[in-house]
Amino acid sequence: MQSVKVGVLGLGTVGSGTVNVLRRNLKEITRRAGRDIEITRAADRSFDSPKECDTNGIALTTDAHDIVCDPSIQIVVELIGGTGIARELVLEALANGKHVVTANKALIAMHGNELFAKAQEKGVTIAFEAAVAGGIPIIKAMREGLAANTIEWLAGIINGTGNFILTEMRDKARDFADVLTEAQALGYAEADPTFDVEGIDAAHKLTIMASIAFGIPLQFDKAYTEGISKISQEDVKYASELGYRIKHLGISKKTEQGIELRVHPTLIPHRRLIANVDGVMNAVLVQGDAVGPTLYYGAGAGSDATASAVVADIIDIVRALTTDPENRVPHLAFQPDALVDTPILDMSEVVTSYYLRIHTEDKPGVLADITRILSEQEISIEAILQKEPEEQGGIVPVIMLTQQVIEKNMNAAIKQIEALQSVQDSVMRIRMESLG
Ligand code: HSE
Repeated sequence: MQSVKVGVLGLGTVGSGTVNVLRRNLKEITRRAGRDIEITRAADRSFDSPKECDTNGIALTTDAHDIVCDPSIQIVVELIGGTGIARELVLEALANGKHVVTANKALIAMHGNELFAKAQEKGVTIAFEAAVAGGIPIIKAMREGLAANTIEWLAGIINGTGNFILTEMRDKARDFADVLTEAQALGYAEADPTFDVEGIDAAHKLTIMASIAFGIPLQFDKAYTEGISKISQEDVKYASELGYRIKHLGISKKTEQGIELRVHPTLIPHRRLIANVDGVMNAVLVQGDAVGPTLYYGAGAGSDATASAVVADIIDIVRALTTDPENRVPHLAFQPDALVDTPILDMSEVVTSYYLRIHTEDKPGVLADITRILSEQEISIEAILQKEPEEQGGIVPVIMLTQQVIEKNMNAAIKQIEALQSVQDSVMRIRMESLG
């Protein structure tokens, strides 16, 4: 039987990893796929500097259109990134009847609905395992392994750079900017690192997982996104004293009112397994009604780790090449005509508990004012920690943990607390999840 011919668009970190992993494990891969798989063509912006892979036997070009139009290519692997040229090339590949594998989370989160419709019309597949949590096979696990379950919620550490920064801040009291520079040098951070630290990258990944978990169209524009750039050493330390860790989580929950879709720093009890996922590692916790909680852990970025997911997708497509397109696993786990438009909840409607850190003057009546405001907003306090001022009459940090409350009440309370004369700075609010 003839080998399956693959064209790779982009020979950067993941593209080179894909060539390396496919070549290194070719024998094992052929045994699994039942056919030889060959990367015959690859495109990149420039070949002036050497690539991190052996390109012998691969026809190289700087014009990616050559590859998506090449009749011999059956599978196009898009590893360019972004939503401009990458979207054009993927649409062109689909129009030419080619299957597509991509690691591009922004492309799937923002244009997936359009791309899947096109793929379905042409009877081809877009596979995107590498778009979420790098090497962890979370898409396959949720789409196939958990197919018997009603998924209730999921929560994940899905940005390695952010997790690395928070871990180093906690363990080594390092400075935010200094750790970010190291993550960039290690090749984990996005080209624009604000995507990592402001939660945009995690929101792309969460959007994709939520669609697969709940059978809803992709709705990146409705995701609530808050980054980690305001987390201070002080908060990391107080959280730890109270038995919690701060993690940057993507959370999606199905409630009676709608679906929560939110990325923000979160206090979680330190004894939870996911609270102990450190450094650049990723983990996703999925709660199914039948199976209960399941946890998926591994490398969320990196050349070979991400290539592991890309190559697995190529193998999946090769195995299904001769199957009837109607009988393939649906892109978003549910049949396209069975996707439902469950509303995404506005963040102000989300119910959760909170960590509050308030800097106040050290004088009588301040705590009474704060607790009165909280009580008027029906916010019940779970714990209070008040630190001594560093100097006589100085500023006192007051830390409170609250019970669950609807976010709009907390917004109103924070506004009133910040308006008190005795309160300095803005109130630091971090949402809490028990993940139990
Ligand atoms: N910048 C991403 C991260 C890379 O740090 O997790 C993988 O998507």
